Amino acid sequence: MSIAVKESLVTEVKGRPAYSPGLEGVIAGESTLCLVDEGEAGLLYRGYPIRDLAEHSTFEEVAYLLLFGHLPNRQELADFAVQLINQAVLPQLLEVFLGPMPSGSHPMDMVRTGVSLLGMVDPEAADNSHDANVRKSVRLLAQIPLMIATACRPMNRKSPVRPPENLSFAENLLYLLTGRKGNDEAKAMARVLDVSLTLYAEHEFNASTFAARVTASTMTDLHSAVTSAIGTLKGPLHGGANEAVAEMFLGIGSRERAEAWVREALRQKQRIMGFGHRVLKRGDARSDIIQRHAESLSRICGDRRWYEIATVVDHVVEEEKGLRPNLDFYSAVIYLLMGIPRRLYTPVFICSRITGWCAHVIEQQDHNRLMRPRALYTGPSRREYVPLDRRT
Ligand code: CMC
Repeated sequence: MSIAVKESLVTEVKGRPAYSPGLEGVIAGESTLCLVDEGEAGLLYRGYPIRDLAEHSTFEEVAYLLLFGHLPNRQELADFAVQLINQAVLPQLLEVFLGPMPSGSHPMDMVRTGVSLLGMVDPEAADNSHDANVRKSVRLLAQIPLMIATACRPMNRKSPVRPPENLSFAENLLYLLTGRKGNDEAKAMARVLDVSLTLYAEHEFNASTFAARVTASTMTDLHSAVTSAIGTLKGPLHGGANEAVAEMFLGIGSRERAEAWVREALRQKQRIMGFGHRVLKRGDARSDIIQRHAESLSRICGDRRWYEIATVVDHVVEEEKGLRPNLDFYSAVIYLLMGIPRRLYTPVFICSRITGWCAHVIEQQDHNRLMRPRALYTGPSRREYVPLDRRT
């Protein structure tokens, strides 16, 4: 690499933050949505500590908070619930498209393509006004669970499902993905799924949200921004980690094998999925919450196998690497207990994070400035052009 070229560019950006690999520590924009607080509160959505929301609110309230800016009163919440039920309809085009997908397709690819397709038929697709963006966000929130269930129907070999209308968002999702509803165990699962949706809803400028904001900053449509976000979430270093954690637990198989398995994996310099975080170096407050629920749900279900494997892995990784679990780690325990098909774990993340993504797209487009950073050029310095017939 030409030092001269590098130095001249560094000089060019003098007085501004210079290059930071992976954009670590870079402030890339302003937001009123979420504060990642490494202190007591851990994480706040529009000023409300995540612990209070997880304990006292439903996911519908959290979704409303993110999209509309305040916690709903009873009437607003009831109206919102009705909207979510009424708008849980897929256009014919999507039903036709989701049927003939290749059998090996990953549901994340189906949802990414499905959202893109919805952008072609949404009546307000090209309207980027605040109100139209909110309406499109609510439609996506209602449509995505149904899309996932429709996409995975052939995979599960289950007949089409149409849930009863009196279910909460989490109860509906649990029913769509597992067929469970009604009994005490299903109620406990739905409550834990609701907490999980609340915890996954928003996390400031994570990779997929940043992708959504970059896309939105060109003033393209909301569906395009969400399509970018889904493609970004899919990777195992981001949302794909919850599926990878479950694969790891299944590979380990029993509590007795867990310690040797992790020590060997670390000796081989493998990354242990569900550990570490770019921002939360002292631990993830969301992980403590979901761990408590994973423990209690394991007791309720009378199946402590996954939780016990998880706690051994957690202990060894902390001892050897000083790394704490992130939200994806104990989330895999609860999804295993619920019997959600593994390839749907990251799509479940979408069902929740769609609220954060859309709130960010709205915020970006309400106060837009095109995102267009610079690159630090590390290629060859200026070269003499050689015509084709003189090249050796
Ligand atoms: N297992 C083993 N070692 C790790 C892990 C891990 N999960 N995470 C970080 N390290 C080590 C890494 O090897 C490196 O060590 P060394 O300095 O000796 O080379 C050091 O910690 C710093 O790692 P890094 O990759 O530079 O840190 P980062 O901030 O770029 O990475 C991360 C953050 C989330 C990509 C990473 O911790 C990771 O790959 N974790 C596993 C995947 C995962 O759980 N992703 C979910 C993230 S949180 C929820 C979400 O966003 O979806």
